[in-house]
Amino acid sequence: MAKYRIAWLPGDGIGRDVMEAARLVLDALKLDAEYIPGDIGWDFWRTEGNPFPERTKQMMRETDCALFGAITSKPRDEAAAELAPHLQGKDYSYYSPIVAIRQEFNLHTNLRPCKAYPGNPLNYRDDIDLVVFRENTEGLYSGVEFHPLPADLRAILDAHPKMRRFASMRNEELAVSLRIFSELGCETIIRQAFAYANKHGRKRVTVVEKPNVIRDTSGMMVRTARRIAREYPQLAYDEANVDAMCMWLIKNPQEFDVLVTSNMFGDIVSDLAGQLVGGLGFACSANIGDDYALFEPTHGSAPKYAGKYKVNPMAMLLSTRLMLEWLGEVEMASRLENAIAAVIAEDKVRTYDMGGSSSTLEVAEEVARKATGA
Ligand code: NAI
Ligand code: MG
Repeated sequence: MAKYRIAWLPGDGIGRDVMEAARLVLDALKLDAEYIPGDIGWDFWRTEGNPFPERTKQMMRETDCALFGAITSKPRDEAAAELAPHLQGKDYSYYSPIVAIRQEFNLHTNLRPCKAYPGNPLNYRDDIDLVVFRENTEGLYSGVEFHPLPADLRAILDAHPKMRRFASMRNEELAVSLRIFSELGCETIIRQAFAYANKHGRKRVTVVEKPNVIRDTSGMMVRTARRIAREYPQLAYDEANVDAMCMWLIKNPQEFDVLVTSNMFGDIVSDLAGQLVGGLGFACSANIGDDYALFEPTHGSAPKYAGKYKVNPMAMLLSTRLMLEWLGEVEMASRLENAIAAVIAEDKVRTYDMGGSSSTLEVAEEVARKATGA
């Protein structure tokens, strides 16, 4: 029996191209793993009315972790229109499988390393090396939303003095998305960030929120961070408002080290930071829970490139490296990272986004060659 069982979820479009690249590299590294393919994505929405079928969920429960490519998703009405004829007009409603996985497997921590590998022509600067920790299951993306406002909720809200400006509006004219924070959620993400900083020899942890305006939720996050920071006197700790942080990340990105924030702020800040080190072709991520994790590039399915083997597999390969590290295959992970860095530095085998004309699989082959010394 193989040492690891890995759920293999290519999904749609270029998700499949880059997963093929990942497999090529994993096979070259000889990871002792069994890869179990899972159905997920647009095809299963269209033909079954469910983009994340129960059988895939069950299969994942019997694996150590998952590697995921990308999926196509569309707004509710468009999604409904593409359902197979026999599913039309029934009660199917599209949802995001990736959000479902995060909640189902309690993958509370989203880790996004943003490192400028020397020689990448897409780097904003060559000395950026930061990591964003984003709370992954609650906050503004909890999914607790109302439109129109139910009468009982309206009654509760109307008691709030700040509701006065909405007093003349009908329930149909109001929409509410709740930003729900829990003490457990705050504590978990902050602890992950500090533990990571400590383990990886990082120097500084910055909590990114907006407690002067969103007092009760951001306030909870900042209070938690201050308390946990005291357990790590060797790490510098500071706080920044999310809007200011967006400016500083453009002005002095090299000064930041570990950033920790809530769900939506983390979504935004990590995309900004990702663009500073090469953009979608380089932006990798890990979704980590207490006993399960899923690794994915942050790009989508890029339908216009689907099956063309044109896109950059680096984001996928860097995500694969995060998986190896999480599995404890530290030596293999660092061999992979060094190979990726060497291919980037060399200016020989590059995809179109880096100004080259190599294919997805040619880049993967070159990484595999370097990782195995072949
Ligand atoms: P996208 O990330 O799929 O692509 C946008 C553009 O970025 C592409 O056209 C391409 O020019 C470039 N790009 C993306 N990945 C690249 C790579 N590896 N190498 C080089 N260039 C790359 O975003 P878009 O077009 O907004 O969404 C397409 C579909 O993907 C939509 O259905 C969307 O909902 C879905 N999506 C899925 C995500 C996921 O599975 N996690 C994340 C983002 C979008
Ligand atoms: Mg995002």
